[in-house]
Amino acid sequence: TILILDFGSQYSHLITRRCRELNVYAELMPCTQKIKDLNFKPKGIILSGSPYSVYDVDAPRVDPEVFEMGVPILGICYGLQEIAWNLKGKVSKCEHREYGFAQLQISNIGSDSASVDSLFAGLGDEMQVWMSHGDQLSEAPPDFHVIGRTKTAPYAALAHNSKPIYGIQFHPEVTHSPRGKEVIGRFVLNICGCKPNWTMEEFIGKEIARIRQICGPKGRVIGAVSGGVDSTVAAKLMHEAIGDRFHAIMVDNGVLRLNEAKQVNEMLNKDLGVNLTVVDASDLFLSRLDGVEDPEQKRKIIGNTFINVFEDEAAKIEAAAEAEEASGAAAKGKIEWLLQGTLYPDVIESISFKGPSATIKTHHNVGGLLKDMKLKLIEPLRELFKDEVRALGRLLSIPAPLVQRHPFPGPGLAIRILGLVTREQVKILQHADSIYLEEIRNAGLYNQISQAFAVLLPVKAVGVMGDKRTYEQVIALRAVQSEDFMTADWFVFPAEVLRRISSRITNEVAGINRVTYDISSKPPATVEWL
Ligand code: XMP
Repeated sequence: TILILDFGSQYSHLITRRCRELNVYAELMPCTQKIKDLNFKPKGIILSGSPYSVYDVDAPRVDPEVFEMGVPILGICYGLQEIAWNLKGKVSKCEHREYGFAQLQISNIGSDSASVDSLFAGLGDEMQVWMSHGDQLSEAPPDFHVIGRTKTAPYAALAHNSKPIYGIQFHPEVTHSPRGKEVIGRFVLNICGCKPNWTMEEFIGKEIARIRQICGPKGRVIGAVSGGVDSTVAAKLMHEAIGDRFHAIMVDNGVLRLNEAKQVNEMLNKDLGVNLTVVDASDLFLSRLDGVEDPEQKRKIIGNTFINVFEDEAAKIEAAAEAEEASGAAAKGKIEWLLQGTLYPDVIESISFKGPSATIKTHHNVGGLLKDMKLKLIEPLRELFKDEVRALGRLLSIPAPLVQRHPFPGPGLAIRILGLVTREQVKILQHADSIYLEEIRNAGLYNQISQAFAVLLPVKAVGVMGDKRTYEQVIALRAVQSEDFMTADWFVFPAEVLRRISSRITNEVAGINRVTYDISSKPPATVEWL
């Protein structure tokens, strides 16, 4: 395991990902982690970047014990400055904050000490790198020497003369440093000596064994599925581990995509064999949403109603098991566990030393279920990033189109219908949205886009059809590319694809006479309109 200590940089999780892409297991922990409290011995430690300056009074500090452990250390950006601060180098403010590309001149290749130069071994004598910093080293700590410099940073990369301690001012973890992944590879594979054996094949075997062990021979688990990648993969994994003792529940909240509930049922139950109940609660949801316009109110209603419906269904499943038992069938275990498809980024968020980041929108989740139902939580995906979940899904024979699916928010179309949510509005949006996605798929663009959906606007516009004037609603189309949905760019469609989509929606969807395309990035806009 590589331990990555997070000092709060927006790129910290990318360091973890790059290690995992090299098939080396890496864990991100807050920089305040005490080494004596670790329950594993890392083979190497990476110190991340940070928005702080090492001289800030509240600057986050690494446990000095890190430097006593004898394991290789790599400091990135602030990480380098933190090493310098601890080992008596000098850090100063840059005249101008440096942000952007720089050319790194690699030096000192061929010195006697093997460990010293191996960070850049075989990477030539020059490399494009990405910089983002306001401070930099103005003096190396004693016993360190320069292994790379740029025009403005004479101490852009340093190595200790005899110990495997390195620091680099640039960010190897971002794609703007094209050979950055190789630098990380040199560190984790060559210098730390990690074996590239973190694969999803290994993960499946271990995780299934772990699930069987914690659930015991009779323990039963329930979980909600949505048709999204995470819940489907989690459900299939549970099914592989404990068969029908895992019971999936899908709640049709009336604001799903066109035919969604039916398709999820076919795929999960018929194709993948998962024990699934689909509950049609659309009437209840839509009646509670009646008259509600405020987006946060919509989210709350849907979240709470979901909990009510899910609990009722779980109680029915439990009652059926008890009735069966009373009639003489073999006793079934009690439902003790709730499956949740938590991913690693959520875990990272919750352990950040700064505390969870401010919520801009309340995201609907099933956390509320635990309070009342007294269930224990089982989270088989909590160590994984999204791309790892997708790889796992492929290995579990989940069909490729599903594995590549765009995310879909819990509150569904209710947050894509601006204004009042009625059955009629849902129908219009479902229809427009299905045409939009069908055309994106036909154009072969689905996998290039991170998320695409239609939005129904609460305005009417004038149009003309035949000789008649029309006065109808407007659809906005949204498509974004994003790595983690914290930031997003709007997708540039070929004009003919937009033309086809627009013409089909205005011709085929009754009630729509105008289509617009949303060209806002996040920030300042968000991905969803509500
Ligand atoms: P925003 O609109 O916040 O969206 O830029 C970022 C990502 O989060 C999804 N999203 C939600 N997901 N419940 C969810 O489960 C919600 O209430 C919710 N709001 C936004 C959004 O679809 C995008 O992928």
